[in-house]
Amino acid sequence: MVSEAAPAATASVPWTRRHLLGLEDLSCDELCTILDTAEQFVVPSQSRRKKRGNLAGKVVVNLFFEPSTRTRTSFGLAARRLSADTLDFTPSSSSLSKGETFIDTAKNIEAMGVDLVVVRHSSSGAPHLLAQHLRCGVINAGDGAHEHPTQGLLDIFTIRQKRGRIEGLTVGLVGDIAHSRVARSNIHGLVKLGAKVIVCGPPTLVPETIRELGVEVSHNLEAILPRCDVINMLRIQFERQRSGLFPSIQEYARLFGLDSTRLAKARKDLLLLAPGPINRGVEITPDVADGPHSAILQQVTNGLAVRMAVLYLLCGQPGEE
Ligand code: NCD
Repeated sequence: MVSEAAPAATASVPWTRRHLLGLEDLSCDELCTILDTAEQFVVPSQSRRKKRGNLAGKVVVNLFFEPSTRTRTSFGLAARRLSADTLDFTPSSSSLSKGETFIDTAKNIEAMGVDLVVVRHSSSGAPHLLAQHLRCGVINAGDGAHEHPTQGLLDIFTIRQKRGRIEGLTVGLVGDIAHSRVARSNIHGLVKLGAKVIVCGPPTLVPETIRELGVEVSHNLEAILPRCDVINMLRIQFERQRSGLFPSIQEYARLFGLDSTRLAKARKDLLLLAPGPINRGVEITPDVADGPHSAILQQVTNGLAVRMAVLYLLCGQPGEE
């Protein structure tokens, strides 16, 4: 069953952008527009039988040049729940291996009549480059260590859902800040919406320049834990690191991992987030990851509503042709 209904217009500002490249570019009002629209997609995102018709006749392509579990499937499912046709592009079996350039590949795919490209790439700025060369909309699904806007949005959405607000909360981002695109998107969104952000990790994984984004820097998780309403445990991005940035995984886990002993020093109502994938026993012990503070799977569920909202705003609104 397909419903044509548009979500009720609670959005704080009319949406005018064709691309979603990062949260750094968005105003506070635009962030609220996405979060408010996502709220209206929570129920439709869980409805298996009753699809929305907002993207009927539109084509959404996943162009993922890096591995992904959650983001790729979530965008695919979100697009299908809005009645779009979806395509999944796999670089390893494409003509890229015959020497075709990134831009040529994207232009050829666009030439089949594509409305939105969802791109993940190991190079920062790859989605911005596509946005300059393609006529269709572009969504950044993670570019190098730069940004991952929909992950930032779903993290912020989950905090707002669980705590009722963002303004005035203290959010700790713990781990490999230097190489984390999730950290950067969270910082841009949270700071704009009035949260206090503390980034925490070993000095080799927390660049000093990060302070320029309006955050506090700490290298001591136990010291910041009692101050945090929310803690977002980020994965060590081995694939983006040179070696020797910390002595050993065991030492990292001892100083910056979250186990039940350390958790006992946090607030009783601490909200625990992690973008996934988690390395159990490194960033978080299994009992804590699966324990009562954790909203890790709720984040994944919310990701669907947030991505439906983004797809709808970029190309599913009435009058969109
Ligand atoms: C993140 C990513 O790919 O940047 N994962 C995700 O999208 N859920 C975080 C990570 O890989 O650590």
